[in-house]
Amino acid sequence: MFGPDIKKCLNVEDFRDAARRRAHKMVFDYIDGGSDDEKTLAQNTAAFDNYELLYKVLTGYDSPDTSTTLLGEKIDVPFILSPSAGNRLFHTDGERGPALAAHEVGTVYSLATLGSRTIEEIGALTEGPKWFQLYVWKDRGLVKEMLDRAKAAGFTAMFLTVDMPITGSRERDPKNGFTIPPKIGPKQIWEGMKAPWWVLDYLFRPAITYANLSTTTSAVSLNKFIEDQMDASFDWKDAEWLLGEWNGPSILKGVVRTDDAVRAEQTGFNAISISNHGGRQLDTSPAPISCIEPIREAVSDKTELIVDGGIRRGTDVLKALALGANAVSFARPYLYGLAAGGEAGAIRAVELIRDAIIRDMILLGVHSVKDIDRSFIRKK
Ligand code: GLV
Repeated sequence: MFGPDIKKCLNVEDFRDAARRRAHKMVFDYIDGGSDDEKTLAQNTAAFDNYELLYKVLTGYDSPDTSTTLLGEKIDVPFILSPSAGNRLFHTDGERGPALAAHEVGTVYSLATLGSRTIEEIGALTEGPKWFQLYVWKDRGLVKEMLDRAKAAGFTAMFLTVDMPITGSRERDPKNGFTIPPKIGPKQIWEGMKAPWWVLDYLFRPAITYANLSTTTSAVSLNKFIEDQMDASFDWKDAEWLLGEWNGPSILKGVVRTDDAVRAEQTGFNAISISNHGGRQLDTSPAPISCIEPIREAVSDKTELIVDGGIRRGTDVLKALALGANAVSFARPYLYGLAAGGEAGAIRAVELIRDAIIRDMILLGVHSVKDIDRSFIRKK
């Protein structure tokens, strides 16, 4: 497919620029944007600058072991791919791009409830480990049906997102006149003229569908579906019910407080995703990197911590590990790759982060992920 030359991208920011050039403005802004004043969005990445890495010399390590385990499963890199909705909007390859990217580097791909490819297609696409991200809808029959399908398709863990009882106000979207699926008016046509490859892809390849809803849900707009179905009354008792329904490994996604982390552990979740939904929900909530240490101290060692938010560089990953995370996760880096260059772009963006981690582990002077401890980091 024509578009920016992804071979020239050397880092996530380069992919972001490439995505901005290829994608329609409303689509780029949907990936890139946050809620309200985007203070949390900015802080998520900026907060990594509050820490410095203290490298060790003469350690003699030239091929570090980047592998680790999460929920009992070995992964080749200390990161997984966060779930993200509606990837077909960004490129016709949709969720195939990040699923293949995860497989390429030997890690977990997590498919979103609101994915645009089916649970069954993504389940069969690769041998690699896969988790299923769940929102809780008012229609509990739909929730149960999805969990059963995910289990049957080989997804090994339930990734329950709980920081979205309602959707945050992402002001770029209404300013761009953006809805899902997009409504095409004069503004969109004008912007579309600046993004011809995205427009051709969007118009002449299969239309976006929320593939996992279509067996039980008529083709309503996503905004309407979410408005009708998001269950803001969902609470800890319901989470317990859901754990019983799933009866397998589970992660609670969207925690920033120690009391919630402790409650998640007591409720039976095996891992906690420290996340503020990429700065897309409650603005002015804290950057996940700053929440690791208190949560690590509050929960037992057997509860695994996955840090999501603002990861752009290999050094960001090492900082999160040094502060006590078991792994990190990210979505925007692979989404910029996907929007810039489809499957190949998503794979390249993820490979860049993998390669940076290897390089940075050698520079840090560590042999394996488990060697990265508190001694390697200090607060400025
Ligand atoms: C969905 O989870 C979104 O943040 O848009």
